[in-house]
Amino acid sequence: MKYRTFGRLGWQVSEIGYGMWGMGGWTGSDEKESVTSLDRAVDLGCNFFDSALAYGDGRSDHLLGALVRRHSQRRIYTATKVPPLNKQWPSRRGVPVAEVFPPDHIERSLHQSLEHSGLDHFDLLQFHVWEDDWLDDDRWRRRVDDLRAQRLIGGIGISINRWEPWNGVRTVRSGAVDAVQVIYNVFDQAPEDELFVATGEMNVAVIARVPFDEGSLTGALKADSVWPQGDWRNTYFVPENLRATLDRVARLRRAVPEGVALPELALRFILSNPAVSTIIPGMRRPRHVESNLAASDAGPLSADLVEQLRAHRWDRTPTAWSH
Ligand SMILES: NC(=O)c1ccc[n+]([C@@H]2O[C@H](COP(=O)([O-])OP(=O)(O)OC[C@H]3O[C@@H](n4cnc5c(N)ncnc54)[C@H](OP(=O)(O)O)[C@@H]3O)[C@@H](O)[C@H]2O)c1
Repeated sequence: MKYRTFGRLGWQVSEIGYGMWGMGGWTGSDEKESVTSLDRAVDLGCNFFDSALAYGDGRSDHLLGALVRRHSQRRIYTATKVPPLNKQWPSRRGVPVAEVFPPDHIERSLHQSLEHSGLDHFDLLQFHVWEDDWLDDDRWRRRVDDLRAQRLIGGIGISINRWEPWNGVRTVRSGAVDAVQVIYNVFDQAPEDELFVATGEMNVAVIARVPFDEGSLTGALKADSVWPQGDWRNTYFVPENLRATLDRVARLRRAVPEGVALPELALRFILSNPAVSTIIPGMRRPRHVESNLAASDAGPLSADLVEQLRAHRWDRTPTAWSH
């Protein structure tokens, strides 16, 4: 495992981190398998874990706290998120931050995450949705400063809404945050245009999330893929999205060199960009942990292949189903 510097916070984080949404909230999660997967990741050098209060209503925060206690001799970086008070994912333009992240809600949510996890602090607290306009109201900033002064958090980050990488650039440029979490993968290359320029200039860490486009870039999706009732993926891979996505994946497969698996290509494409501090694939199976973490040792792709993959950029705009 190789490590990168986490922006101005200076942490040395594993190039491949860990996304905990699936084990917290998707159907088909098995607690024992999740714990084995998490332990295997730590053994292989992973040290950055992304949770959220909303993932299984505290289940992933609980798993994260237990992981830290099982590996107390290792430095594990813990990240969680404050859910929007109005429960709107993604956030709606024009709704004031006072209705989404009022200061007391921020503090209360952090304390809930601390309680679920049994930890005495989180390294990174992130806002689970974001609007750049919220920068102009400094009440959240003052409360975050208080929480930092109390050593309940080490840094603050924003998680940018799907397919809106522009909707955080002003906040990054203001110096108000230490980290941004954004969708960045072979399809979603738009963060390179503006966001990564700003994070580079401001030394803000970049957490690349959804490296597999929720699973399509693993090659596992089929035209008749459906998930158990209540699974979030049924609302994302609606027929319109599934069809278009499978066409794109079929085209992409032709660019995959002999001997390289599609998930490996997807991760190594992201690793090829030095703007990224860590990638957080969602994984619940030890075999996924092992193959994904090995991508760090395999390293970035050749410049020629990265150039070829530029043609697979897919700029999308938010829709009713894309939350
Ligand atoms: N708004 C936000 O802040 C937000 C939104 C979305 C996600 N996130 C964060 O980003 C993380 C990653 O996103 P995600 O989990 O939604 O999507 P993702 O990482 O793009 O895809 C996860 C899917 O890929 C599968 N997978 C992983 N490695 C694989 C491999 N080597 N071969 C085949 N399949 C593989 C996983 O299967 P298994 O689960 O069966 O292992 C899971 O179905 C989340 O866990 C969460 O921490 C944040």
